Amino acid sequence: MEEVIQINGGNTLSGEVYVSGAKNSAVALIPATLMASNGEVTLKGLPNISDVETLVSLLEDLEIKTSLSNNTLTVNAENAENIPLPNEKVESLRASYYMMGAMLGRFKKVVIGQPGGCHLGPRPIDQHIKGFEALGAEVTNEHGALHLVAEELVGAKIFFDVVSVGATINVMLAASMAKGRTVLENVAREPEIIDVATLLNKMGANIKGAGTETIRIEGVESLNGASHTIIPDRIEAGSYISLAAAIGDEVKVKNVIPEHLEALFSKLEEAGVELEIDDDDVIVRRSEKLKPVQLKTQVYPGFATDLQQPITPLLFLADDTSKITETVYPARFRHIDELRRMNANVENKGGSVFIHPSTLSGTDVYASDLRAGFCLVIAGLMAEGTTTIYNIHHIMRGYSNIIKKLEQLGADIKLVERE
Ligand code: EPU
Repeated sequence: MEEVIQINGGNTLSGEVYVSGAKNSAVALIPATLMASNGEVTLKGLPNISDVETLVSLLEDLEIKTSLSNNTLTVNAENAENIPLPNEKVESLRASYYMMGAMLGRFKKVVIGQPGGCHLGPRPIDQHIKGFEALGAEVTNEHGALHLVAEELVGAKIFFDVVSVGATINVMLAASMAKGRTVLENVAREPEIIDVATLLNKMGANIKGAGTETIRIEGVESLNGASHTIIPDRIEAGSYISLAAAIGDEVKVKNVIPEHLEALFSKLEEAGVELEIDDDDVIVRRSEKLKPVQLKTQVYPGFATDLQQPITPLLFLADDTSKITETVYPARFRHIDELRRMNANVENKGGSVFIHPSTLSGTDVYASDLRAGFCLVIAGLMAEGTTTIYNIHHIMRGYSNIIKKLEQLGADIKLVERE
C-alpha cells in the first residue's frame, strides 16, 4: 500500500494560509543542539515535516534526550555519546550532513553514512570536506561511511570555491568549537545561515558576519543551552504565493518576511500578479491577463532554485512563452515530463525550460523531489479532472500540514491509499 495525493482540480482558492518554520533552517538548528554540553536547547516553531522527525531520531541515536510537541523541541545533550551513524536515516535526507559539522565540533570525531535527499543531479560535498580538512580533520571514506577525525580543530582561513549553503553552515558549526579564529570567505548569504548563527551565538558561540560574504568566528571551548524561535519558511511562503497567483481568488499568506522573497515578488509583478505586501503577510490577487517572464535561478538574494518548480504552473497561464534557466542545479527539471503528461506544452532545452500557454488536464504523476512535488500539486489544482500524485514522501519531507492548509483554502485534495 502506498499513500498518494488525489486532487480534483478547478476550484478557485481563497482565505488564509499560515507559513510554518523554515525547513532548511530547522534541519541545521536541530543538529546544532547536540553541541550544547550544558543545559537545554529549545527550538520553537518547527515545521511538522518528516525531515524534522528523522533528525530528532538521529539525536536520540546519540543517547540525547529530546521532547517534541506543539512544534517545540527541547534537547538535553549533556550526556550525548559519540555513536557512529552509518544508517538508513542518514541516507534518507540531505541535511543529515549537518550532523558532521556539529559532531566534529563537539566530539572531534564522526562516523556517518553518506547524505541522501532530493535527486537534483550531482550534489557533491567537496566544499564541506575542504572546510573540515582546513580546520584539521582527517576525512576518509571507509566502506561507504565517512570518517572525520581531528586531534584538535584549529581555526583557519577558508575560501570556498563554490557558494554553498550547506558547506557554509556545516563549517560554521565545526569552527564555532575550533581553537582560535576562523574566517570563511565566499560564503552563502541565505537567511537560514543567519538563523543558525543566531542560535549558535545564543548558545555561547562568537560568530560575526552571517548574511554577508565573510563570516568570522572566534572558537569557544563549550556551548550551552538556549532558546530560539525559527524564522518562517521563505520557500513554503513562495510556494503558496505562486499557487495563489495561479488559482487564488484572494489569498492571504501569513507569517512571511517579505525581504526574503524580493526576487520572487519582482518576477510575479512583472508577470502581472497583484501583490499587497505588508510587514509579515502578503495578499495575492490573481490577474486575468498574465505576461510571460524570463528568469534565472541564482544564489540568494537571486531567484531561488527552490521556487523555479513552484512558479512553473503559473506561467502556463501567460499569453506567450516564458523561459526559466536553472544555474544552481542544471538537472532540476524532472517535473517537466510529469507536466507533459498533464498536457502541458513545455520543453527542456540546454538547461532552460520553455513554458508555452497550456491548459492542464488531470492524470497520474510522480513527484521526483520536494519542490517538483509542490509544482505538481499546483498543476493538479489548476487542471481539469483528477490528478493523482505518487511518491509523495518527497512532499511530506518538507511541506508542513500541506493537506490541511490546502483544504482550508478550499482545495479538493486528500490522501488516499493505493495498492
Ligand atoms: N556544491 C558543490 N560542492 C559542495 C556543495 C555544493 O559543488 O560541496 C554545489 C551544488 O552541487 C550546487 C551548488 O553548489 O550546484 C549549491 O549547493 P548548496 O550547497 O548551496 O546546496 P545545499 O546546501 O545542498 C540547500 C538547500 C536546498 C537548496 C540549495 C540551494 C538545505 C537542506 N537544502 O542545499 O534546498 O536548493 O541549498 O539554495 O538547506 C529544497 O529545500 O528543496 C532544497 C533542495
